[in-house]
Amino acid sequence: MKNLMVTGGCGFIGSNFIRYIFEETNFDGRIINIDKLTYAGNLSNLKDIAQKFPERYVFQQVDICDEQNLEHVFNVFKVDAICHFAAESHVDRSIVHPNDFIQTNIIGTFNLLQIAKKNIAGFNLFHHVSTDEVYGSLGETGFFTETTPYKPNSPYSASKASSDHLVRAYSETYKLPATISNCSNNYGPYHFPEKLIPLIILNALEEKPLPVYGDGTNIRDWLFVKDHAKAIWKIMKNGKHGETYNVGGNNEMKNIDVVTIICEILDEIQPTKQSRKNLITFVKDRPGHDKRYAIDFSKIKNELGWMPDESFEKGIRKTVLWYLQNKEWVNQIKSGEYLSWIKKQYN
Ligand code: NAD
Ligand code: TYD
Repeated sequence: MKNLMVTGGCGFIGSNFIRYIFEETNFDGRIINIDKLTYAGNLSNLKDIAQKFPERYVFQQVDICDEQNLEHVFNVFKVDAICHFAAESHVDRSIVHPNDFIQTNIIGTFNLLQIAKKNIAGFNLFHHVSTDEVYGSLGETGFFTETTPYKPNSPYSASKASSDHLVRAYSETYKLPATISNCSNNYGPYHFPEKLIPLIILNALEEKPLPVYGDGTNIRDWLFVKDHAKAIWKIMKNGKHGETYNVGGNNEMKNIDVVTIICEILDEIQPTKQSRKNLITFVKDRPGHDKRYAIDFSKIKNELGWMPDESFEKGIRKTVLWYLQNKEWVNQIKSGEYLSWIKKQYN
């Protein structure tokens, strides 16, 4: 891999991945970050990387649904590998406006696969970043494995499932070198505050209501974003083509417990007159709300030697501190689309 195209590199996980590659791996090639810069994409996530690595980091504003532009950039930069993050990623938005999810997540992935297939000679790897939500919902016991049947419940997870199937099909039919990862809920720095953890941190800081859907007993497995970046890189370097790897954080938590822990950390660091736990507000449940996600990651552990390093206890503290220490980033985010979305949802 010399010219690695990263799609969606200005989003939460993509920007953490690019930072990890430049700062903590021996990759010596070039990264071509292509991103449409939707409400979720933020150039400032990688401002320092762009300054530190001007020869090896390129940004191009490209919509993956724009096949012509995509192919032009692919050829100009002699792309020989792709790590594909670009997606519409928020379940609640997919319930209200599914159209962009179908376009970007399905058609956009198809466009990338077509271009890679057309240039298959000299193409090294298509890594597709996906979610455990494709497997649907678990009851009180059990774990998702790589062989769990797909049963997506939201327009978001259905669109990701569709893209996973396309990648697999191109690998089988056209022998496109490809790998897929399906991971659990990520958290950490640069997370857009429409998702549970950053939304709760920012609302709690402003002493605003902390919305918890339903009774708060839905369970997610939380994966620190840097652990995810490490897993992706391991798969890209040593994973077997045509294979899927599940990536989990070993941190199953009820939503209400996640919210309570964030309140406790903030109460300790920046005490207010009354505990922020009093701000917890149970709101109408999400339609089709998946009850529980949990991942069996023994395949990546046994075959590639990957394990999550971060405990939730330490990772959530680091995350809260990051939001406290990056007020400029927070203010910039809050001045844009975030505000109008929050107003529509909760006011
Ligand atoms: P994000 O919403 O923070 O970022 C998505 C990025 O993609 C943004 O920079 C956006 O501008 C870009 N983008 C959107 N549409 C585009 C288009 N048409 N063309 C080019 N760029 C476009 O998402 P994220 O949380 O960083 O997720 C990244 C990937 O990881 C997604 O594929 C998502 O499905 C997957 N994933 C996320 C999680 C999670 O917990 N966040 C968990 C499992 C899997
Ligand atoms: P989210 O961060 O949107 O991720 P996902 O839906 O992909 O798992 O939500 C995580 C969990 O938190 C999910 O069970 C829904 C719940 N949730 C709330 O209770 N309140 C909120 O304001 C949000 C955004 C999510």
